[in-house]
Amino acid sequence: MRYSRVRTVTTVGLKVLDVLVELDIDSRAVIQEMDIVGLGDTVIKESKKRVKSAVKNSGIELPNGRITVNLAPSDVKKEGSYLDLPIAVGLLKATSKINADLSDFVFFGELGLDGSLRRVRGVLPILLSLSRRAKGMKIVLPAPNRQEASIVDNLTIFTADNLNDLVGFLNGYIEKSPIAYSQPELGNVSGPDMSEIKGQEFAKRASEVAAAGGHNISLRGSPGCGKTMLARRIPSILPPLTMEEAIETTMIYSVAGLLGEKGLIKERPFRSPHHTASTTSIVGGGNDAKPGEISLAHNGVLFMDEFPEFRRDVIEALRQPLEDGVITVARAKLTATYPARFMMVAAQNPCPCGWYGDKTRECTCSWYDIQRYNRKISGPMEDRIDIFVDMPRLDFDKYMENSTTESSDEIRKRVIAARKRQSERYEGMSIFSNSQLGHALLKEYVPLDTASRSLLSAAMDKMKLTARAIDRVLKVALTVADLEESKVEARHIAEALQYRRKT
Ligand SMILES: Nc1ncnc2c1ncn2[C@@H]1O[C@H](COP(=O)(O)OP(=O)(O)OP(=O)(O)O)[C@@H](O)[C@H]1O
Ligand SMILES: [Mg+2]
Repeated sequence: MRYSRVRTVTTVGLKVLDVLVELDIDSRAVIQEMDIVGLGDTVIKESKKRVKSAVKNSGIELPNGRITVNLAPSDVKKEGSYLDLPIAVGLLKATSKINADLSDFVFFGELGLDGSLRRVRGVLPILLSLSRRAKGMKIVLPAPNRQEASIVDNLTIFTADNLNDLVGFLNGYIEKSPIAYSQPELGNVSGPDMSEIKGQEFAKRASEVAAAGGHNISLRGSPGCGKTMLARRIPSILPPLTMEEAIETTMIYSVAGLLGEKGLIKERPFRSPHHTASTTSIVGGGNDAKPGEISLAHNGVLFMDEFPEFRRDVIEALRQPLEDGVITVARAKLTATYPARFMMVAAQNPCPCGWYGDKTRECTCSWYDIQRYNRKISGPMEDRIDIFVDMPRLDFDKYMENSTTESSDEIRKRVIAARKRQSERYEGMSIFSNSQLGHALLKEYVPLDTASRSLLSAAMDKMKLTARAIDRVLKVALTVADLEESKVEARHIAEALQYRRKT
């Protein structure tokens, strides 16, 4: 009988499912045809062309007959090009070009037309999943994925450069040793530093508070005042990634096919999508249900530069993930869920022309334009941003000054301490930072003394704060207090009041 079974996997988002490739050759037919059945996507349909060319160009003769490939279970949509390799292996096994017992092997990888094994995306989530449930299995994947595979423990993983290399290995005349596990290390990372920013003490302090409490922040100021410069430095004051976070983030990059040569992502991501970006590219989805910018920013910073210029549906689509920290993207018959917990830094000019309120240049916008521009971030979106900062443009003297200011490392120490207080406070709850507190918990964790109470009530009258705005002030005040390792007092509330939105 010319029949074979080869194990492989498919992914749906970060979920990994087992797939069995069954292959049968009906030699009564003289044509060399291949049919693939079992809910494959178009990439898999293209597989048969790649498999045929790869086998031929490896100098292996294709059998005569009709080849039927069944991908089981047939009710799961398979995607990606992982299946090239298991189909080719199945073909070689069914024609006795491979004579090894393959029952404890799992294969996945894309084939080049020349028979080479190409890098595939999503290897890390696949291997982590296999390491939990496929003890004793041997995995074979493309050599270019070696780096990523080396950070997974408890699996026997081999790589191959091309089909001939693989056949030689399986038939026992090429020796290979499994990939050596190399324990990943996070170590120090270097990036731009807060000390490079001159002046802007208020905005820097606000960033520290935002980083300490996981608060989303909005920076507003005229062109060149340093909004982008500051935003880029926020990852440097966030606590270093934990190993668990690094692996989560790496999995997302792996699935998105953006990992490249890197084994593990060690720095908090900083993503800065352009304001013309589509909803799909920001939240994820599309034909292959890939993660979007918000998931690529998971555990890091999503910088929305020129925020009011983003399409309205993009801004709307951010609301739910900002609340839940996850996003579910759907397309025909398939839904994929990705984590998306990020700190949002929104930047904008004060008005469409950019110069409203600037001391040196005149604004050419109408009052109406200015209102409309600023109102784009309204209601529900505004509720998700706790800290608003207006940045003045630096004057010449300040810019030329040689003063030394605090480095990111020094600021980060305080942020780490403040985060530690929060993780102790919220132990056993699914709350990661002060920014996530709702009204009931705020009342519990921020008991107000008399001075705080009268300050707040005066502010409510004078500044016309809404109830929601009060909650935001309390959240931020708690973070300011955490940075001082103190309980909330009137001075913390006074500072938090400075970060409220001014029209
Ligand atoms: N506070 C500052 N300290 C040092 N350099 C600064 C500062 N502010 C601005 N600069 C310089 O000005 C350049 C422009 O700043 P940046 O791009 O951050 O401005 P921006 O506010 O993002 O402007 P735009 O609205 O045009 O995007 C920076 O690359 C930096 O060289
Ligand atoms: Mg900018």
